[in-house]
This record gives sequence, structure tokens and C-alpha cells, in this order.
Amino acid sequence: MSGMLLTGIGHLTTNLGEPIERGAVSIRDGHIAFAGAEADAPEQGPSDRLDCEGRAVIPGFVDAHTHLVFAGERSKEFESRLAGEPYTGGGILSTVESTRTSSTEELYDLASGRVRRMIANGTTTVEIKSGYGLDLDTELRLLEVATRLGETHPVTVKTTFLGAHTVSTEYRDDRDGYVELVVEEMLPRAVGLADYCDVFVEDGVFSVDQAERIFAAAASLGLPARVHADQLSRSGGAGLAARIGAASADHLDHVTEEDADALAAAGVSAVLVPGASFSLRSPQAPGPMLWEAGCTVALATDCNPGTSYVEAMGFVISLAVVQMGLTVDQAIWAATRGGALSLGLEDRGALAEGMQADLVVLDAPSPAHIPYRPATNHIWTVIQDGKQSYRRD
Ligand code: NIG
Ligand code: FE
Repeated sequence: MSGMLLTGIGHLTTNLGEPIERGAVSIRDGHIAFAGAEADAPEQGPSDRLDCEGRAVIPGFVDAHTHLVFAGERSKEFESRLAGEPYTGGGILSTVESTRTSSTEELYDLASGRVRRMIANGTTTVEIKSGYGLDLDTELRLLEVATRLGETHPVTVKTTFLGAHTVSTEYRDDRDGYVELVVEEMLPRAVGLADYCDVFVEDGVFSVDQAERIFAAAASLGLPARVHADQLSRSGGAGLAARIGAASADHLDHVTEEDADALAAAGVSAVLVPGASFSLRSPQAPGPMLWEAGCTVALATDCNPGTSYVEAMGFVISLAVVQMGLTVDQAIWAATRGGALSLGLEDRGALAEGMQADLVVLDAPSPAHIPYRPATNHIWTVIQDGKQSYRRD
């Protein structure tokens, strides 16, 4: 039986009740056996001990929205935006070009680097979307790479098929034909490789009607929906997500209180990606309003080469606190438990007996140091599935 005992925790965030000062966590066979006051910790037999020397411990980050398998980069497009060009989603096609012409090995190596940097920034679970292939062969290759990343790195991967990220160049003049291709040819082949189906619902990209058709087909194949919703305008994605009972509605920069109430009532998680609004220099999504409405709020990097080339959840938390207006406690919860719930992972994102032992020791006395010292990587040690997946030397 393998085990570990963490002692000397100065500030323990369990996500169940108030933070604990002078805490301890005991781990057995990849699961939490105890998380609470050090004075109450069971004495453990032969096991590794880690003295945290007053550092803070939080659950591992659950990054519930990324597009991290791609080739190429778009810094020129970024600079054009800084010079006043609007973002329309058109740049996706340039990443599609570089992705299609890359070998599966090249895509794996590029994505592996990103995953390793994510782990070094405290991520223990990551959702990965396809969407830079837009043809059957490449979309399947992206999902295969995503799945393999979870097998070869100390991180849990959940995969999402995003064939409807935009209409491919070949179907430029036959947009419904592309929807047909997604429904008839891609979706059935994504079964077994993808856990979810996503659509970029936006004026000029996919309409609510087209998305509804894709999500209905996905549901019939057993794939629940995650929706790129109301990012650039209030184009109806959140309303659709609520109506079909999606697992999550993501982005949500333009949602209203009415949308928030509908999401909360339907139990749809609100996955917010402040890195995208930051990079697009647009106002942040109304996180506090969604929280007040009773939504399960999650935070994610949206790691992608166009709008949010962000790998660190710490930076996302800083934006959520300083620009969006969530409290530190809300932001930490959303970056851990919120993300886990949005992915149906009830046993992640909280530290209590029976939960998977995914946690982070910060090199700081409290999680407030993440937004307080925003440009510092505060990760000291990451434990995933009960084993150290990263340790700062
Ligand atoms: O989440 N909104 C759509 N998709 C990505 C951006 C994709 C890109 O520009 O490459 C996003 O922001
Ligand atoms: Fe996205």
C-alpha cells in the first residue's frame, strides 16, 4: 500500500467549509484518507512524509476548456489586433492549415510541451478539444493525440470533439454541407475518442439551429454538449445550452441575467475563460453575476493560439480576481471544484476522504498570493493520483 502524509500545512483549502490553519493531508493508494487539522491526523505507518513548513495546500487545478493540440502560432494576428483589427474567428483557418500539414508525432510533441508546462503550473486535470483539423482524418488525429497525452503524462485528460469550430475552406460556400459532414461522417467516428461535443455558436460561425442539429446527433451517440456560447455577441449559445441541458456553456462574455438564471435552473456549468477576454482586450464575462445566479462557475485557460495562449491557471485566477471581480475563494473554487463538476468528476477538486489525491502545495502562505503576486509561479509541489507529478527543485 502506498501512502503519503503532508504535515505543517499553513492554510488548507478543502473546498468543503472554511480553510484550516495547521492542517494535514494523508493519502493512501491515490486517494485522500484524511484532510483536516493536523492535531486530528491519524498516525500513519511506513509512508512518505512531506513537511510543508507553513505553505498553503489547495486541490489541483482542473482546466476545463483548452484547445491545446495545434501547430503554428499567430503572433502577427495578435499584433494586428493591438493595432485595431477586430477578432472574428477567421484566424482559426490559419491554424488549421499548419495543423493539417503536421505529422501526428509533431502535434504530440508540441502539445506535450504545453501539458508539461500546465502541470508545472498546478494543473492535474485538463479538457482538450479538437477543432483545428476540420476534416475527418485530422480531427481524429487531434483526438488521438489528446487521449495519448493523458496516458503518457501525470494528468487526467477529458476530450471534446469540436469539428464545428468553424467551416473549413473547402465548404466555404456550402456551410450546411459542412454541418452535414460533421453530423454524418465526423461525429460517428469521434465516438470512443471523445467524451463531449462542442460547437462554436456565434454570428457568422455556426447558428443556433445548426448547433442544435449537431448537438442532437451527438446526444444520440452518447456525447454530452459543451458550448462556445455568447463570446463575441449575445448570439444565443447560452440559451441553447440551457434548453438542451448541456454539461457546460463556455466564455459567456455577453450573457444577461436571464441567461444566467436559465443556466442555473438547467444545471449547466458556466466555464469562464478570462485569458481570452484579456487577449482580445474586451470586458470580462460577468462572473460575479453568474455566481450570484447560482451557476456552477468554472475557470479555464482556453489555451489556444488565437485568443488565449495561456497555460497557467494561476494567471487565469489573477484575471478572475482582479478584472472579473470574483473573490479569491470563489476563483480558487472555480479553478478546482467548479472545473471538476463541469466535467462530471465528482471525486476531484475537493480534499476529503475518498476523493482522488490531486493537490498542489503552494510556495506561499495562502492562495491570495496567486493574484497578489500574479507574475510568479507559486507551485512548489504537485501531487496527482497520490504521486508527485512536479516538484520545484
Ligand atoms: O475559444 N472561440 C472560438 N475558439 C477559440 C479561439 C480559436 C482561435 O482563434 O484559434 C476560443 O477563443
Ligand atoms: Fe475556446
